Amino acid sequence: MFNNKDLEKFYQNCLEYCEKIKNPILKEVAKRVYADYKTPLFNKPATTSHHYFKGGILYHTYCVTRDAIAICGLYPNLQVDMDLIIFGALVHDIGKTQEFKDFKDIKDDDVFLENHAKLLGHSYEGVHIISNYLDEYKIDRQFKNQVLHMIGSHMNEFTDWGALVMPKMMEVVIINFADKMDSDIEPAHEVLQKAKNGEEYMVRNAPRPYYKSLNKFYNTDR
Ligand SMILES: [Fe+2]
Ligand SMILES: [Fe+2]
Repeated sequence: MFNNKDLEKFYQNCLEYCEKIKNPILKEVAKRVYADYKTPLFNKPATTSHHYFKGGILYHTYCVTRDAIAICGLYPNLQVDMDLIIFGALVHDIGKTQEFKDFKDIKDDDVFLENHAKLLGHSYEGVHIISNYLDEYKIDRQFKNQVLHMIGSHMNEFTDWGALVMPKMMEVVIINFADKMDSDIEPAHEVLQKAKNGEEYMVRNAPRPYYKSLNKFYNTDR
C-alpha cells in the first residue's frame, strides 16, 4: 500500500506535530517515543479492521492527529488543550506495538504477538509505555493522569479491546471522534473503488452493507 518513502513522509509529519506541543515535557516524550518506536511504527498494521497493511499504525496515527487538529479548527472558540489533543492523538495507539506482529510475519489472520498484550489490550499497554516515560520527569501527579487519560479512554467503550475508563475530558472526546472517523472511513476507499454504482459494498468494520450512489452527476474523481 505505502512504500517506506511514503511512510517516512508520514513519520516526518508526525514529528512536525510533536513540534507543535508547547509543554516541553510532553514535546520531549513525544519525540522520544517516535524515535524509540520508529521500527514498529513502520512495520505493523493498525489492526485487522482498518489500516491493515505495513505501517498502517503509523499512517492511522498521522491521520488521527491531523483530523483531531482539523476538528478543533472547526470549533475555534472551544477552550480545549491542544497539547493534550496532539500528544494524545500521536500516542493513542502506541500500545498496539506490543499487540501485533510485523505485517510480513502475519499468516492466516494470526496477527497477535504471543505475549502479555493479548491479556491486557492496547489501551493498557499504551498507558504503561507512556507512564514509564513520564516517570523520568518531574510532573504533577494529576496532570500525568490527565495525559494518560488520553490513551486509557480513547476507545470510548468497554469491550474486549476497549477503554480502561470512559472519557472524562473534552480533549479525549475529540481524539475519539478523529479515531472513529479515520478507522471507519479508511477501509471504505478500496471497496468504493471496486463497487459499481447502485451496488452494495461491505466495509470491513461496518455493521451492515452500504450502497454506492446512483446519482447521474456522481463524479468519482471529485
Ligand atoms: Fe485504539
Ligand atoms: Fe486508533
